[in-house]
Amino acid sequence: MSVPKQASADYRDPRCTLRVEFTARDAPEQLVAALDEWGFAIAAMREFEEPDAVLKELSTALNLGPPYVPSLYRQEEAKDYSAAYSDIRSDPDDLHPGFSRTTGQDWHVDGLLDDVGVIKTTILWCVRPAHRGGETLIFNSLAAFLRLRAADPEAAEALMAPTALLRRSTLPGVDHSRTGPVFALDENGELVTRYTDNDTCEWDHSAGAHGALRRALSFLAEQSRQAHSRLAVRLGAGEALIFRNDRLSHGREAYVDTARARRHLVRALYTKAPVATDHSTSR
Ligand SMILES: [Fe+2]
Repeated sequence: MSVPKQASADYRDPRCTLRVEFTARDAPEQLVAALDEWGFAIAAMREFEEPDAVLKELSTALNLGPPYVPSLYRQEEAKDYSAAYSDIRSDPDDLHPGFSRTTGQDWHVDGLLDDVGVIKTTILWCVRPAHRGGETLIFNSLAAFLRLRAADPEAAEALMAPTALLRRSTLPGVDHSRTGPVFALDENGELVTRYTDNDTCEWDHSAGAHGALRRALSFLAEQSRQAHSRLAVRLGAGEALIFRNDRLSHGREAYVDTARARRHLVRALYTKAPVATDHSTSR
C-alpha cells in the first residue's frame, strides 16, 4: 500500500487553509501540492463569473476531465438531479435531503451508489456564502484509518470487508443501495474510502472478527472530533474548495440565510485526481 502525504496532515496547521490565487502562473501546481498534503485545496477565483465557466477553467487546469454524473442521478427516478453542475441552495419546493436544505450534513462521501474510489474529486464553488454557518466540514478519514490499522489491525480489517457498509438512497421514491467496503485498495495499491456516518448507512456487524467493526466505527467517530483531523472551511464568494472525495469524508454545518445572503454553492464531481500539466504545454 502506498501511503500518501495526507496521512500525516495536521489540520491545526494554518497553512492548510491558505488560499491559492488562481491567477498565479503556478496555481495548478500549488493546488495539486496542497491536495496531496491535506486532501483539499482552496482556490480564490474571480468573483462574478458564471459558475459553469469557472468550473470548466478550474477542471481544465487540474486535468480532471469532464464532470461526472453519479450513478444515483442516472437512475430514472432521480434524473432531476443529473446536471453536470449541481446547485446547492435552500429550496423549500425541492425534496433533496442534502442539496436543498439548510440543515447540517453528517460525514459522507459523494456518490452513494458508486463503488469506493470512483469519484476522486469534488469541487464546491461558492457563489455566495450563508448569512451564518454553512461551513464545509472535512474529516481526514484516510489518516484516521491508518492510525486505526496501527493500533487495532483487526478493526481496520473489518472496514475493508466487502459487505461492511450498505448505503441506501434517502431521496423520496428512489430505492437504490450499494454494498461495499469502507476502505479499499484501488488498482494502483492506493487506499480509497467511502467512509460515511449518516442516515444512508446500514452496517454489517458480522463483517470481520466479532466486535471489530464496532471498535473501528467508534475509533473513527472519535478521530472525527479531533482538531488534527477535522476542519471547518468557510468559503467566501468566488472561492472554490477542491477535495479528494476518495481520501476524505465531508459534511456541512447548518446555516441561516437572509434575503441578502442566500447560500449558493455549485458542485461538480470528477473521476480523475487532479494533476498539474507541465508549464511548457499549458497556460
Ligand atoms: Fe457531499
